[in-house]
Amino acid sequence: MKRLVVTGSRSGIGRATAALALQRGWTVIGLDLMPEGATAADGTGAVTFPCDVTDGESVRDAFRRVDEAWGSRAPDAVVHCAGIYRFKEATATAAADWDGVMDVNGRGSLLVAAAAAERMRNSASGGSVTLMSSIAAARGDAGEPSAAYSASKGAVEALTRQLAVEWGPYGIRCNAVAPGVIDTPMTTVSGNPDAFDEVLRRIPARRLGTAEEVAQVCMFLASDQAAYVSGTVIAVDGGQSAS
Ligand SMILES: NC(=O)c1ccc[n+]([C@@H]2O[C@H](COP(=O)([O-])OP(=O)(O)OC[C@H]3O[C@@H](n4cnc5c(N)ncnc54)[C@H](O)[C@@H]3O)[C@@H](O)[C@H]2O)c1
Repeated sequence: MKRLVVTGSRSGIGRATAALALQRGWTVIGLDLMPEGATAADGTGAVTFPCDVTDGESVRDAFRRVDEAWGSRAPDAVVHCAGIYRFKEATATAAADWDGVMDVNGRGSLLVAAAAAERMRNSASGGSVTLMSSIAAARGDAGEPSAAYSASKGAVEALTRQLAVEWGPYGIRCNAVAPGVIDTPMTTVSGNPDAFDEVLRRIPARRLGTAEEVAQVCMFLASDQAAYVSGTVIAVDGGQSAS
């Protein structure tokens, strides 16, 4: 049975990915913000351990618990969905705003990927790490300017390519998914509900994506069907990045 760790598993894309993996017969452990020491079901049936992805010690602890749960067998795949969005124009972005977003989306991606790779390196079958970028890495957005978020996702894409090159010789693939506008709690709180029609106008598919549609691509990258796919970013955006 294949083993998957999903971060941000209690909401949105992470939750949908955990649910899809379980449906496909994978063993799944979720990691998300929770009180220390807690072990909770996340609604999908996956066990969830507490983890703050910005904190090295918390990531180490969480992966130690994963090791215990799986008898030190490495995860076959990690899908890193934990992330935050902040809608703030560049001139209003204080240093602390920048750091807060970069800490979760940038540093969190490195810490989680590195903890995964440490384990996968010792596994004969290697593994797959999928990070979460965004359409914001490739396109500015006049409607919802969010400088720190866009820059943090640019960092995720650069990190993805670097890790694919560093870890390829160990049989570890690293890819990113770049969702467009997806109907999750993150989007609901993005602060610009009046602009909904304008958002739809910019999406060739004329609708938001669903968390399940992104999860399908995450699970493709996690699977052996993507055995020769590494260092790439797959857009899941209804054609928005092509327009
Ligand atoms: N929803 C979209 O339209 C959209 C578009 C592009 C990219 N993304 C990216 O997809 C990923 C998932 O987004 P979503 O829409 O599912 O969001 P969401 O808000 O529904 O879920 C995010 C999850 O991350 C967790 N999280 C936040 N900070 C954390 C931390 N420090 N440590 C551990 N967990 C933490 C939250 O608790 C939550 O469970 C994010 O990286 C986001 O940037 C989303």
